[in-house]
Amino acid sequence: MSERILVERPEAHGGTVQIIRFNRPEKKNAFTQAMYGTMVDALVSGDEDDSVHVHVMLGTPGCFTAGNDMQDFLNYAISGRIAEGEVSKFLLALASLKKPLITGVDGLAIGVGTTMHFHADMTFASPRSEFRTPFVDLALVPEAASSLLGPMVMGNQRAFAMLAAGIGFSALEAKEAGLIYKIVEEDVLEAETIAAAAALASKPPQAVQISRDLLRRGMRDASIERLREESAIFGERLGSPEARAAFEAFMARKKAS
Ligand code: COA
Repeated sequence: MSERILVERPEAHGGTVQIIRFNRPEKKNAFTQAMYGTMVDALVSGDEDDSVHVHVMLGTPGCFTAGNDMQDFLNYAISGRIAEGEVSKFLLALASLKKPLITGVDGLAIGVGTTMHFHADMTFASPRSEFRTPFVDLALVPEAASSLLGPMVMGNQRAFAMLAAGIGFSALEAKEAGLIYKIVEEDVLEAETIAAAAALASKPPQAVQISRDLLRRGMRDASIERLREESAIFGERLGSPEARAAFEAFMARKKAS
């Protein structure tokens, strides 16, 4: 259980909305193993609990998440044991979700902070948000089934620009590309995200889940298969000298500044 992930089911909505909040602002909400583990527990237990109807994910003001913790990447590179880690469980939990996931992005959404929205059902983002996946710059490859869902959702060219060329997308570009649902001002982002979740949570829950399943069913098995393939390649790439050099450069940049 990581205190860097806050999980709550506010009474205001009768406990039907489960909010998972990233809470490591001093490190731009970068995800550690422990944080992934806590998110997996929340997603799985929320999915199993009939009283929860909708999942919500939020960052902190001005930052959604800087993605995977770079020190953890370096540790994986050294140990070569990513397949046993919490990241894989988190991606699998996302791709297997039964209940709707609503995300609210204010600020940077990097790496998995971007690709998770392919598994979200409605994403709200503030105008200052940016979606960026520097996988190739880190000598890595796309993950979270984004190599399959990215071209489907955005078309080949925008998917390549984002996922292979590492070009950042503004909130507007992300909306035009179909990655996110709506742009709302940062001062109302959380309120609108939670209100949308609460509105959805007030609808007949079985009908919502079945409808979601119908919309996603065609791609679920393929997504899970693809994310497993990606994870295997990702694991190999993590152990490559060029990836290790990229992580060490980031850590050295940190120490130098
Ligand atoms: N893992 C671990 N620590 C991270 C991190 C990450 N992914 N992203 C940011 N941090 C830490 C920084 O090391 C720094 O820590 P310090 O204060 O102890 O030195 C702190 O968060 C603030 O980051 P900083 O880089 O100083 O802020 P910035 O506003 O100049 O830049 C980012 C923010 C997110 C653009 C930049 O930190 C970055 O590029 N991070 C890496 C993102 C990434 O590549 N993630 C993996 C995707 S696959």
